[in-house]
Amino acid sequence: MPHLTWQTTDQGDYFPQLKVLMEKQRSTCLPAPLLLDVNQPVWPIRQCEFIFTANTLHIMSWQSVKKLFNGIQRSLQPAGDFCIYGPFNYAGKYTSSSNEAFAMRLKENNPSSGIRDIEKIISLADGAELELIVDYAMPANNRLLHFRKNSVQAL
Ligand SMILES: C[S@@+](CC[C@H](N)C(=O)[O-])C[C@H]1O[C@@H](n2cnc3c(N)ncnc32)[C@H](O)[C@@H]1O
Repeated sequence: MPHLTWQTTDQGDYFPQLKVLMEKQRSTCLPAPLLLDVNQPVWPIRQCEFIFTANTLHIMSWQSVKKLFNGIQRSLQPAGDFCIYGPFNYAGKYTSSSNEAFAMRLKENNPSSGIRDIEKIISLADGAELELIVDYAMPANNRLLHFRKNSVQAL
């Protein structure tokens, strides 16, 4: 999709490997990656039309997930789109035994990680002026959540 400019970002631990990967994929629509930890008070990106994140919400802490939504609210244009790919729980339950086993492995490595409840994500999104437009089922018990920011800014 050469009509799109994809600005990739990652935080410190993963940044060097992202940089190497992007150097192999040289293209005018793929600028050099930017260092971005969602906890930073200022993000190094301007107002975006679209923001996409994959497999991050179950890795970072819940505190960081909240900061992610604060940053999205600041960085997404009015009527802009935000998509999240990854596993989610519904009504407090895992959607498969494989997701449950995956969550247990995550917690063993990092107790602050975990598969998030979709209801809590929708509530955070609501506070960040984002409305859930579509919740797509994806392979391997993953979801793609498509949010849109309000076109009128909250006062
Ligand atoms: C499982 S990897 C997913 C990588 C890639 N998006 C994918 O789907 O293959 C989790 C990613 O979450 C990122 N991450 C974790 N905590 C973060 C934070 N506080 N700010 C920004 N990114 C974070 C990690 O650096 C890593 O790139």
